[in-house]
Amino acid sequence: MIELRGLTKHYGDTVAVDHLTFTVRPGIVTGFLGPNGAGKSTTMRMMLGLDNPTAGTVRIDGKHYRQLKNPLTYVGALLDAKAMHGGRSAANHLLCLAQSNGIPRARVAEVLDLVGLASVAGKRSKGFSLGMGQRLGIAAALLGNPRVLLFDEPVNGLDPEGIHWIRNLMKNLAAQGRTVFVSSHLMSEMALTAEHLVVIGRGRLLADTSMAEFIEQNSRSYVRVRSPERERLLTMLYREGMRVFAGEAGALEVDGVPAERLGELAAAERLVLHELSPQQASLEEAFMQLTAGVVEYHARNGGGPPPTVQGGGPVRSAVPQGAMSRGPAPDGWGTDRQWQRKRS
Ligand SMILES: Nc1ncnc2c1ncn2[C@@H]1O[C@H](COP(=O)(O)OP(=O)(O)OP(=O)(O)O)[C@@H](O)[C@H]1O
Ligand SMILES: [Mg+2]
Repeated sequence: MIELRGLTKHYGDTVAVDHLTFTVRPGIVTGFLGPNGAGKSTTMRMMLGLDNPTAGTVRIDGKHYRQLKNPLTYVGALLDAKAMHGGRSAANHLLCLAQSNGIPRARVAEVLDLVGLASVAGKRSKGFSLGMGQRLGIAAALLGNPRVLLFDEPVNGLDPEGIHWIRNLMKNLAAQGRTVFVSSHLMSEMALTAEHLVVIGRGRLLADTSMAEFIEQNSRSYVRVRSPERERLLTMLYREGMRVFAGEAGALEVDGVPAERLGELAAAERLVLHELSPQQASLEEAFMQLTAGVVEYHARNGGGPPPTVQGGGPVRSAVPQGAMSRGPAPDGWGTDRQWQRKRS
C-alpha cells in the first residue's frame, strides 16, 4: 500500500505537486494519469525518496522509503529506463543492484528470462534499443520480488508483443496481492490494464475512482445512427425533441434515448437505417473531458478548414439551427465549443 498525505513539491515558483492525498491499494492495478507536466513523475520520485517533499508525507506499507532495509525487496520501480550505467552488461547491471540489496545472484538470470532479455544478458546496455532498455528497467524493478511496484510510462518504446506482455505482467502482479501503480499516456492500454485511476492536473488531484465510474462520470453515452435519408431522419429526431449531434461520415449522435426506441421510431416511419449503435465514450474521451482545463502544453492542429459532409458544406450547416443546444447539456456536452473540440 502507498499512502500520500498532503504531498506537495515546489521547484522555485513552480508548484509541481499540490497537496496530493490518496492511497494506492494492493491487489489491483492503479493507473496514474495526467497531462504532460501534471506532476506524475515528481510524485513517483517522492514515493521513492528520490525527491524531498516541500510538505506532506508518503508511506510505503507504513514506512518512509528511507526507513526500508534493502528497499528493492519492498518496492520496485521503473522511472527512467536510461538511468543505468551504459557500459555494464545487462546481467552486471542487475547483479550490482542484487548485491547491494541482499538479493541472491540466481535471481538475475530469472528476471532476465522473465523480461525476454536472456539472450542479450552479456551485452552492454548502451547498445540497447528503447524497448530493450524498458525491459531491463522492468527486470530491475522485479529483481527483489517486491510487494509494491511503480512504473512510470513502462510501455514507452515497447513493441505490440511487449505491450501485451507488460499488460498481463501488471495484472498478474496485482492478482498476487501486490500494489501496482502505473502511469501512461496510452489511454487504450490503460483502459485494458487498470481497475482504479488516480488523475492529476497541475499537481492537484482531479479524480480517485474506479475505471468504470471515471468513464461514466466524465463522458456521455449516446446512440450513433446513420441513414441514407439523413434529412428525414433529422426531421423525425427533432419532432421527437431529441438532442442530436453531427457525427463522423454523416452519422448522427443522439443523446439520452435507448437504441431500441430509435429503431422503433425509424421502423414506424419506414426509414432505412445503415447503423444504429449504442456508444460508450472511451477512457481517452473521458480523460480529455476532465482535463480540458488543466492541459499546460497545447499543440496546434495542422489541418485546414473543418471537415465537410459528402456533397459539400460544413458539417455544422447540415444540422439545423438549435441542434446543439436543445435541452440542458450533461456535464458540458452539447455546447458548441464541446462539439467543435470533439471534431478537431
Ligand atoms: N527537477 C526539476 N526542476 C524543476 N522543475 C521540475 C523538475 N522536475 C519537474 N519539474 C516541473 O514540475 C512539473 C511536473 O513535472 P513532471 O515531470 O512531474 O510531470 P509529468 O506529469 O511526469 O509529465 P509527463 O507526462 O510529461 O511525463 C513540470 O512543470 C516540470 O517542469
Ligand atoms: Mg513524467
